[in-house]
Amino acid sequence: MFCTKTLLFITVLFLLGTFTFAAVDTFVYGGCSQTKYFPGSPYESNVNSLLTSFVSSASLYTYNNFTVNGISGGDGSVYGLYQCRGDLSLGSGDCARCVARAVSRLGSLCAGATGGALQLEGCFVKYDNSTFLGVEDKTVVVRRCGSPVGYNSDEMTRRDSVVGYLSTSSGGSYRVGVSGELQGVAQCTGDLSASECQDCLMEAIGRLKSDCGTAAWGDVYLAKCYARYTGRGGHSRANGYGGNRDNNDDEIQKTLAIIVGLIAGVTLLVVLLSFMSKSCERVKGGK
Ligand SMILES: *[C@@H]1O[C@H](CO)[C@@H](O)[C@H](O)[C@H]1NC(C)=O
Ligand SMILES: *[C@@H]1O[C@H](CO)[C@@H](O)[C@H](O)[C@H]1NC(C)=O
Repeated sequence: MFCTKTLLFITVLFLLGTFTFAAVDTFVYGGCSQTKYFPGSPYESNVNSLLTSFVSSASLYTYNNFTVNGISGGDGSVYGLYQCRGDLSLGSGDCARCVARAVSRLGSLCAGATGGALQLEGCFVKYDNSTFLGVEDKTVVVRRCGSPVGYNSDEMTRRDSVVGYLSTSSGGSYRVGVSGELQGVAQCTGDLSASECQDCLMEAIGRLKSDCGTAAWGDVYLAKCYARYTGRGGHSRANGYGGNRDNNDDEIQKTLAIIVGLIAGVTLLVVLLSFMSKSCERVKGGK
């Protein structure tokens, strides 16, 4: 009896864990500099130690920046930061887990590149050989909108109130607004001052309103901040730029991600359960 209950409990926990983490882990965008460093150069080991620092720091802080100095000061130095989404907790390890995945994806995406950045749903990581820390940057990186729902004054009022809430400067560097089924989220990286953060978010929110029109959802990621809202249809997932044609791809990628996650989860579960049931039998046999 004890064994059955334990097995069931573990199964439920495991499945819950797989599903809740899938959203945090979803790829939003990634990009690398054109220039490459020499394999085996001191710069390479500086990049590696920077990325390692991200992962160990992310279990203590949701944001941090690092500089690894080259031999002669400026030359060969590498600068970087990571930022977790404001609702990811340190205690549960979600922030650290997200940063670890982002770092490993960035490592393979930008192998050998002097700079790179990667955004997952739950966290952002970036490194470069020139310092970008504390520098406001409103370059548009991703702008995508859901399909238009048509003009609906209730819907528009709700969106305007959510987006209006995201615009209030008293909100800090992570802001969430909810109205009915609409939810909005905005965040700056931790290296911006309060006024730079506000300025960056106003730019992102302005674009969200003007470019996404009456869309069901919208995402605008600038280099140092983002603003997004999601409606009834839930989150947008796949990477890509604006337009309705992305929606089908979104659905396919979402479904694929869930299937792959499920297969991996179930495989692990089967292995775990067979171990458990063997030890359960041993306990029973021993009585
Ligand atoms: C960054 O690396 C590239 C390629 O090696 C080099 O051309 C550029 O001068 C470097 N920038 C700095 C600030 O060191
Ligand atoms: C970078 O980190 C240092 C030490 O944690 C901190 O004092 C500094 O303010 C940070 N700089 C930026 C631009 O965030």
